[in-house]
Amino acid sequence: MTDSSPRKLIIAIDGPAGAGKSTIASRLARKLGYVNLESGAMYRALALRAIEWDASFDDEAALLKLAEDSSITLDRTIGGNRVLVNKKDVSARIRERDVSEAASRVSVHPKVREWMVARQREMGIGGGVVMEGRDIGTKVFPDADLKIFLDADPVIREQRRLDQQRVKGAPAEAMAAELRERDHRDRTRAASPLVAAEDAVVLDSTHLSEDEVLERIEKLVEQRLAARR
Ligand code: DC
Repeated sequence: MTDSSPRKLIIAIDGPAGAGKSTIASRLARKLGYVNLESGAMYRALALRAIEWDASFDDEAALLKLAEDSSITLDRTIGGNRVLVNKKDVSARIRERDVSEAASRVSVHPKVREWMVARQREMGIGGGVVMEGRDIGTKVFPDADLKIFLDADPVIREQRRLDQQRVKGAPAEAMAAELRERDHRDRTRAASPLVAAEDAVVLDSTHLSEDEVLERIEKLVEQRLAARR
């Protein structure tokens, strides 16, 4: 289903952690011949900088300065985004638990978000992108051609996260509690909380396989492409 049309779509996929956004976004992008951009990786990269520089996660001005002074790049490779901070590959490091927690904390600040949103718009404005995150359909691309809000039952999301992390030997209870806390923070923060855009298609993946989710989204993409012909 490669899209060879002159103006390619902007596809936004938002939702909480563990709903399956990253895998779906990357598979969809590959099928369409689009670029997959993980906006969360940018917040994670900034969080890592804050950890390295011992900056407070509550100090908005310091975090903004850190963002402005860092070069945070998403290098698109097949199967995900390689994340470079000042040319150093931090792709694996930013997935660790301390960074996950810190990313959720640094992302509450409006000025940090404004900076991120501006970069993300620049990256996606030409179209041909599947961008995933928490505020893509509401803030980054409110006019996206297709908006998906991918959700799943919290118990299932916790289980999926645990399955991903088990190899690393993370304690189950602590991981589940962290995910719940992060989720709560992402949904209740004042600046761009995680909510489905009014015109988003809400997909609940609790009882759907990855293939089934992908199939449903592909149908929606086909409809959007057909509407433009
Ligand atoms: O998608 P992720 O788990 O890698 O995101 C890490 C954190 O970054 C998440 O807890 C909230 C924040 N985030 C955000 O506020 N807005 C986005 N568009 C993407 C992520």
